[in-house]
Amino acid sequence: MGLSIRETVRDWPGMLQIEDLTFNAWGRRFFDRASVTVPPGTKVGLVGRNGVGKSTLFKIILGEFQPDSGLVSLPKTARIASVDQEHPATPVSLIDTILAADIEREALNQELETAEPERMGEIYGRLIEIDADRAPARAGEILAGLGFSVADLTRPMAEFSGGWRMRVALAAALFAEPDMLLLDEPTNYLDLEGALWLEARLKRYPHSALIISHDRELLNNSVDAILHVSGEKLELYTGGYDDFEKRRAEKARLQLSAKAKQDAERAHLQSFIDRFKAKASKAAQAQSRVKRLAKLEPIAATIEEHVAPFHLPSPKRPLAPPLMHLTDATIGYGDDAPVLRDLNLTLDVDDRIGLLGVNGAGKSTFAKMVAGALKVRDGRMVREGRVQVGWFHQHQIEALDPADTPLAIIRRERPDDSESSRRAKLASFGLPFDKQETTVDSLSGGERARLLLNLVAMQAPHLLILDEPTNHLDIDSRRALLDALNDYGGAVILITHDRSLMELVADRLWLAADNTVKPFTGDMDDYARFVLDRSRQGKIAPGQGRERKGKRRAA
Ligand SMILES: Nc1ncnc2c1ncn2[C@@H]1O[C@H](COP(=O)(O)OP(=O)(O)OP(=O)(O)O)[C@@H](O)[C@H]1O
Ligand SMILES: [Mg+2]
Repeated sequence: MGLSIRETVRDWPGMLQIEDLTFNAWGRRFFDRASVTVPPGTKVGLVGRNGVGKSTLFKIILGEFQPDSGLVSLPKTARIASVDQEHPATPVSLIDTILAADIEREALNQELETAEPERMGEIYGRLIEIDADRAPARAGEILAGLGFSVADLTRPMAEFSGGWRMRVALAAALFAEPDMLLLDEPTNYLDLEGALWLEARLKRYPHSALIISHDRELLNNSVDAILHVSGEKLELYTGGYDDFEKRRAEKARLQLSAKAKQDAERAHLQSFIDRFKAKASKAAQAQSRVKRLAKLEPIAATIEEHVAPFHLPSPKRPLAPPLMHLTDATIGYGDDAPVLRDLNLTLDVDDRIGLLGVNGAGKSTFAKMVAGALKVRDGRMVREGRVQVGWFHQHQIEALDPADTPLAIIRRERPDDSESSRRAKLASFGLPFDKQETTVDSLSGGERARLLLNLVAMQAPHLLILDEPTNHLDIDSRRALLDALNDYGGAVILITHDRSLMELVADRLWLAADNTVKPFTGDMDDYARFVLDRSRQGKIAPGQGRERKGKRRAA
């Protein structure tokens, strides 16, 4: 379920305490006597490698999984709301989904109608406490912030694409304003504008929050502490992500020098033992050295395992420029008004284009056309006939069959390969043997994204269109993707709300806005300012482009 709310009594001290948590599942240990205490009212960023067990920890906290031993104490009195990485396509309308989130307020209002006079006081008191009067205003502000229009309110959830359903779940959780808010990668389905809004909103969230994120900006701007999952342990660091990285690097350095010292001592003891164990006169000393050696606790050399690189093979035979040339081109769906027009653009064989624009501005439609999946309606498009395009986008993740497995998928992709070379390929993608027959619905978000990204690039395309490729990837994997992109020889069109990735990859920026795509002069800071200015002026109508995101068009 995308959104889950647990109700509630009051007076929660606001503390999350995990003591000696041990958890094993799917043939593997996730936590080994892990402990942490999160002080009341703290906003915590939960970080760690893809597949390390962050989403699993949420499920343990929510009581969906039982620990093998240890305690997770989250007093039964707390109101908790959680938003997962996915939200189902229910027939329930948007507004009902939101209202259902504030269970307590609903229940109190209902109780008021029949309550005994002596209970009334309590109910009113509680309604004031939870600021019930301001609820409609708060809902409105949240919905606008996340880009919803009034017309959206009555539409059933099933009509929204996965990304928009997640926004509803997020809006509902923020609206309910629980004592403890659990969010699993909330910026994944937001555009830059939505991400900026959420950063600000979380920063002033009045209660505790635990936010799984791989988003450096959010982790630097919105949380008070970082909770790191690594080596089957939990460790809390105060401050944002940059502070955390510095402190962890320092810790790794200290650990390394302690290890070097210990290795020297070990070698010294060993050589003493080797030299003297045959001599009767020194046998006792040698014995005591043997004991000392046995007592030395080994110090781990590295804190982090290495992250699998991405493979983006360069095109075998480069094509003659340009890859694509558009003159006064128009694109759209069926007989509807065009989504984009006045397109006058040239794409060269080694271009690195950063494609900007809010959700719904037509970036995906543009990508579809470049990928060859949508024809130009008017005007001219000259496209190199042999161009092979690798196109990665979020719908691919949504469209995966939950019962499929990585091995079955690559079998279909590489029917002529041997089974062992397919398995080797998957392992090189970062999916080791024991993950290759795990069903898609059991893979973590990052594992799925890794699989698809590598599959898309496998044919060494001339052009890679990457639509939000870093969603779900952990921070080190993002760096690995950046390295691979730098080595890739073909052209790249990149869509991302990750400002730093965009800056490091794109050498030209194009902007989708006002029903067209045009070169954008300026850098990412200029763009962030442009976006905020426009939304302040209300030029981006709330709900703009929702139709195009809707299910009916997603096919
Ligand atoms: N039902 C299952 N069967 C087998 N393996 C599973 C199942 N559910 C989860 N796993 C595995 O457990 C591991 C932890 O998953 P989890 O979703 O908690 O990771 P995560 O830290 O949230 O990762 P990400 O950052 O990619 O979201 C993953 O390797 C996943 O494949
Ligand atoms: Mg996860």
